Amino acid sequence: MGKTPGKNGNDGLGIRTPDSSYGIADPKAGGTLTQAQARFPITSNEEMKGFNHLTKDNQTIREYLAKRLGGYGEAQGELNDHSFWLDKFKEAFRQPEANAEQLITEQNISFALAQYELSQVFTNNPWLSYIKGDTTALNDSAKRGAILFYQSKDEGGAGCVSCHSGDFFTDEQFHNIAAPQLGHGKGDGASGHEDYGRYRETKQESDKFAFRTPKLIKRCSYRPMDAFRRIRKPNRFSKTFG
Ligand code: HEC
Repeated sequence: MGKTPGKNGNDGLGIRTPDSSYGIADPKAGGTLTQAQARFPITSNEEMKGFNHLTKDNQTIREYLAKRLGGYGEAQGELNDHSFWLDKFKEAFRQPEANAEQLITEQNISFALAQYELSQVFTNNPWLSYIKGDTTALNDSAKRGAILFYQSKDEGGAGCVSCHSGDFFTDEQFHNIAAPQLGHGKGDGASGHEDYGRYRETKQESDKFAFRTPKLIKRCSYRPMDAFRRIRKPNRFSKTFG
């Protein structure tokens, strides 16, 4: 659901999130996939939530943070200067008379984050310049890398494009690439420190340790193992051996 190409989730079918059951739309997902996604980094133990608030459900956490930012409800007074944010929300949502409780809400915050993300357009990078015909935009080493990236294994290449395809270098599919687990994991496996990836949603054995191919835009010049040094979300990497 919510996967009609080009609609960013806004296709009237609803958007399923980790807060709703598999195949069921989340009524609080927001209008776009971008907004739905913006609501989750703060609720993931391995990302921004940490392990000190395990008993609080996701929506409680989001609403608490909104109250803290807006300085109302039980979070009143936790931050010093609220007028900055209230003024920004009044202006952005064109509601000069509204108060923090009406404006600085979980739904408005995630909407604003999504609009900001949607305003980011990757137009200025050497790869794109090269594609558009500027043959000097890449140096020889990068060009050799690109050939490796695009050639299949049979042709002597590394076959990266079989998954990292298209303008954004992703087929948007799930694959188990046998990358080792780094970080805390999601509590899976005998050790409790593995992350079963796509299996956690589908419960299909073949989806164990499968993760969605990430975009590589702005990262296309790195060698594969550099990914481990540059990685920002270590929990997304899965353990396959041992
Ligand atoms: C079979 C499909 C597949 C192939 C082939 C493949 N990748 Fe990936 N790649 C993935 C998946 C899936 C992930 C995410 C793994 C995870 O989250 O644990 C990934 C992650 C990455 C990342 C980390 C990006 C990030 O945002 O964290 C980089 C960089 C990368 N791949 C580069 C390459 C390069 C270079 C090649 C060729 C040598 C390659 N990949 C071949 C599927 C593939």
